[in-house]
Amino acid sequence: MATLVKRLMVERGRWAAALVGSPPLFFLVALLMAAVLAPAADGQPLVPAVIVFGDSVADSGNNNGRLTIFKADFPPYGRDFPGHTPTGRFCNGKLVTDITVETLGFAAYPPAYLGPNATGKNLLIGANFASGASGYLGSTAILYVRAGFEFETYSSWYKNAVSLKQQLSYYKEYQQKVEKIAGNKTTSDSIFSGGVHILSAGTSDFLQNYYINPVYYLIYTPAQFADLLVGSFTSFVQDLYRLGARKIGVASLPPMGCLPAAITLFGKGGNECVKRLNGDALVFNRKLNATAGQLKKKLAGLKLVVLDIYKPLLDLVDNPAGNGFFEARKACCGTGTIETSLLCNAKSPGTCKNATGYVFWDSVHPSEAANQVLANALLVQAIDLLS
Ligand SMILES: *[C@@H]1O[C@H](CO)[C@@H](O)[C@H](O)[C@H]1NC(C)=O
Ligand SMILES: *[C@@H]1O[C@H](CO)[C@@H](O)[C@H](O)[C@H]1NC(C)=O
Ligand SMILES: *[C@@H]1O[C@H](CO)[C@@H](O)[C@H](O)[C@H]1NC(C)=O
Ligand SMILES: *[C@@H]1O[C@H](CO)[C@@H](O)[C@H](O)[C@H]1NC(C)=O
Repeated sequence: MATLVKRLMVERGRWAAALVGSPPLFFLVALLMAAVLAPAADGQPLVPAVIVFGDSVADSGNNNGRLTIFKADFPPYGRDFPGHTPTGRFCNGKLVTDITVETLGFAAYPPAYLGPNATGKNLLIGANFASGASGYLGSTAILYVRAGFEFETYSSWYKNAVSLKQQLSYYKEYQQKVEKIAGNKTTSDSIFSGGVHILSAGTSDFLQNYYINPVYYLIYTPAQFADLLVGSFTSFVQDLYRLGARKIGVASLPPMGCLPAAITLFGKGGNECVKRLNGDALVFNRKLNATAGQLKKKLAGLKLVVLDIYKPLLDLVDNPAGNGFFEARKACCGTGTIETSLLCNAKSPGTCKNATGYVFWDSVHPSEAANQVLANALLVQAIDLLS
């Protein structure tokens, strides 16, 4: 525990220095964190449960049984995960949410809700509803939208992710199960109000929907599209609040233009982060942050934190060596320029032997080593949710 607090202090120090350059704030926050994190020393997790929603950044196996091309339940995915088994996580090892759950003192991960372990007492520590290729818009999980009406086309099988709306229905079902398993409504309600709810979405909406879907990009500017997504975020938070959630952390968009696949597809042959995409991410992030501020004012007792993943990931990409990495352009899997999901498989030629020095595991998803750095940065920001 002492090392954790020390590490957090160092991380927070970096952030505080970067943000305001103010040592007093740093010490204040460090003291606060030491106090907040102390309970974990006795073996009890810091919060009763962790509940996860979103896309492939957080999916821990919900797509495994689905008819979709967005899967990661085969090698080399999971090769550095405990047991060296592919679990459906889009990573060589642990996700940011896995690392966070460990840091908070849990002995197990909240089970993937559509997986075999989502039964009985396992559900009392939370659940994971995230689904690769899902997004704020229902049409990101399926494929096309026309004039506001979603419909599945013959080709929609290739995505077929669990939409956020569907994830929310599963959450309602989950709550009923937990109430039965806990056998006591007071107890189950305290799991929902005290549990940390994490939402990570938006990248698929842009990369797999907006930029490649003329129905959107001909009609909406990136800022207007961002408004559409933030509207969906607003309803999602209001629904969660109505269901008793009081602690919600929402991840910002990453620097999308720095994802290896984005450089390949949208970089016009260059080898630099695509400025346009990073700019769009920042526009979305500002709107998300402003809306989160309004929601907090409106919904009494709600702790809502925007977890900024943009800056820590951009720092890694801009200065890999300073963070112990040597490769931030090419991903480890395959050629490192385009492979993800089915294209990143045991037969992909060129996959690196050791992903530790790579910021990206596949062309869209960070490596476990990068996730560790991101998790440290996000935990510091999430401190408000842990008290
Ligand atoms: C289910 O839980 C068991 C025991 O904790 C674990 O060994 C196994 O890997 C889990 N399976 C999945 C699919 O998560
Ligand atoms: C539920 O649990 C709480 C706290 O443990 C206890 O005070 C309460 O009496 C229980 N209620 C029922 C109906 O068992
Ligand atoms: C986010 O919004 C808050 C107000 O709710 C504001 O104080 C803060 O500066 C904003 N941060 C960013 C990065 O826009
Ligand atoms: C990868 O490299 C790191 C750092 O050099 C080392 O600690 C780790 O054991 C290596 N992992 C494997 C699977 O070889």
